[in-house]
Amino acid sequence: MQGLWHSDDSTALPRWSTRRCQIEELIQSFIDSAIRCQKAGFDGIELFANYHALIEQFWTPWSNHRTDQWGDSLDNRLRFGSRIMEGIRTACSKDFIIGLAISYGDAHSPDLSLKDKVAIVAHHDHAQHMDYVTCGSGSYLGFDKLMPTFVFEEKIGLPLAAAVKQALNHALVTSESHVRTPENADYIIASEEAGLASIVRGQIADPQLISKTQAQSEQDIRGCISCNQM
Ligand SMILES: Cc1cc2nc3c(=O)[nH]c(=O)nc-3n(C[C@H](O)[C@H](O)[C@H](O)COP(=O)(O)O)c2cc1C
Repeated sequence: MQGLWHSDDSTALPRWSTRRCQIEELIQSFIDSAIRCQKAGFDGIELFANYHALIEQFWTPWSNHRTDQWGDSLDNRLRFGSRIMEGIRTACSKDFIIGLAISYGDAHSPDLSLKDKVAIVAHHDHAQHMDYVTCGSGSYLGFDKLMPTFVFEEKIGLPLAAAVKQALNHALVTSESHVRTPENADYIIASEEAGLASIVRGQIADPQLISKTQAQSEQDIRGCISCNQM
C-alpha cells in the first residue's frame, strides 16, 4: 500500500488515479456491506454520516479540500454519499431500508452549520436516497455532546431534527440524544417536531422501559440519569 502512495516506480498508477480508484473502491465496499446485510436477513442499514465520519468528511469543506469531481461545489461534495445510496438502492431490494445518521455540534464549529446540514439532507431527500434520517448531537469537534451527560439540555438533537423535518418531503425523521424518558419521547411525537424518537442509554438503564411504558407502569422505570457510568 505504502508503495502505491509513495513509489518512484514509473509503472505505479499516477497519484490522482490511485486516489480515484480508492474512492470507487470505498463506495463499492459500502454497497457490498449493504448487500451482505440484506443476505444476512437485516431489513435495512444505517449510513454513518454523523460525528464527522467519512460521508460527512466529504460533505464539509472543512475537511474536503479536493478540487476534482469529489470536492469544491456542493454537488461534488455530495457525490460520495449519493453514489453509495444510489448503489445500495440498485443492488438491494426496493423495500430494503436505508437510514442516514447525522449530527450537529454547535454554532461555533468551523464545520458545517445547521443550515448547511439541513440543505444537504434535503438534497438527498429530493432524490429519495434514504427512508429515514436520524438526528443526533455532537461531532468530531464536540465530543462532549456525543453522549451528553446531565449538564446538557434534554432532547438535545431535537432542534436539528425539527429543522430537517421541515425541509423533507419523503424520509422519516428521528430525534435522538438525551431523550431519556417516555414523556420526552411522547412530546417529540405529539409536537410533530420529529416522526420517531430514539432512547439509547435510557434502555440500558432499564431494558424494560418500553414494556413498562406499554403497561402504563412508567413509575416503575429505572430512570437514566445520563451520568455515563456503568
Ligand atoms: C454504549 C453505547 C454505544 C454507542 N454506540 C454507537 C454507535 O456505534 N454508533 C453511533 O452512531 N452511536 C452510538 N452511540 C450513541 C447513541 O446512538 C446516542 O446517540 C447517544 O447515546 C445519545 O443518545 P441517548 O441519550 O439516548 O443515549 C452509543 C451510545 C452508547 C451509550
